[in-house]
Amino acid sequence: MEKVIIVFAFMLFAARSGWCETATPPLVVDFYNGLCSDIDVEATVGSVIASLYEQDPTIAAALLRLQFHDCFVRGCDASILIDGHDTEKTSPSNRMVRGFDVIEAAKSSLEAICPGVVSCADIIIMATRDAVSLAGGERYTVQTGRRDGTVSVAADVKTPAASISVTDSIKVFGDKGLTPTDMVYLLGAHTIGVARCSTFEDRLYNFSNTGEPDPTMDPTLRATLIDSCPRDITTDEDTVDLDQDPSSSSIVDSSYFKQILLNRGILQIDQELALDQWTQPIVNAIVQRSDFATRFGEAMVKLGAVEVLTGEQGQVRQFCNRIIEQQK
Ligand code: HEM
Repeated sequence: MEKVIIVFAFMLFAARSGWCETATPPLVVDFYNGLCSDIDVEATVGSVIASLYEQDPTIAAALLRLQFHDCFVRGCDASILIDGHDTEKTSPSNRMVRGFDVIEAAKSSLEAICPGVVSCADIIIMATRDAVSLAGGERYTVQTGRRDGTVSVAADVKTPAASISVTDSIKVFGDKGLTPTDMVYLLGAHTIGVARCSTFEDRLYNFSNTGEPDPTMDPTLRATLIDSCPRDITTDEDTVDLDQDPSSSSIVDSSYFKQILLNRGILQIDQELALDQWTQPIVNAIVQRSDFATRFGEAMVKLGAVEVLTGEQGQVRQFCNRIIEQQK
């Protein structure tokens, strides 16, 4: 009888802990070591990104946003890169997402020397890390071993809009396993890059349909933004820096947080981070501490682990913009 109880207890433990299920391997540091003979995969990506960054430093902002928009839809599986009718790329939320050509350039360098091994999903993560460090951020260690997804559907794209509340945003990030602190650090990505006037124009002229500007915006900032974004006539080319410290708007550092504490946030969500009772203490702490660079890297690594495919899941694409059709 005792034996039966022990065996039963063991089976229950195994079932509960997921030990019986087919395990998928975790992401690891240096996954590609030895998989491409003596080729250093991360260094290969690094040299492509360094040369493209030299030509166009705005690829750093492009890649940060690309990683976010990839990881939040079906996980970090490069599903955002796939071309076709009704794929994620075609969603209005992804219309201004850039950097696809950058990933494709790194992929083709790798395919030339080590075909069929390095996933596009991992290239997004490595390339973003490299671009962040070129833009003045800390070079964080990335985990790899992701596989590429085979599904990309525009209707799945539900990345948050600029007017999302802090409460709703905490929920959206929480659903991806990210804490409010992770969320605040990750929004620190708005320390570089630009936003189109249309994404915050309501704050200048008709906030929440009041016919008035957003009262939380610094009036001096509003005066400048009105010049760049005249009412109702802007195009996609009319953009402003997300970090309103001109000496630092292309540098990955904590100045975005200093700006939002001065009521100089551009997007509604940026400003609300500095005003909300839950996130304000986190913003204050970031400005007072000196480890933004390290903690931002850690948050990017967590973002890069959202709902990943590993092991036998998914595939490794040959070209990042198309899936490999499986033989039936
Ligand atoms: C609640 C969360 C977020 C919201 C609502 C949000 C919203 C936006 C919006 C509206 C823009 C301007 C896009 C346009 O003009 O079309 C933007 C730009 C950008 N976002 Fe976010 N974002 C969020 C989180 C993040 C995260 C987590 C990252 C990266 C880790 C990120 C990185 C960027 C970057 C770098 C840009 C500038 C892109 C460029 O210059 O091309 N954002 N974001």
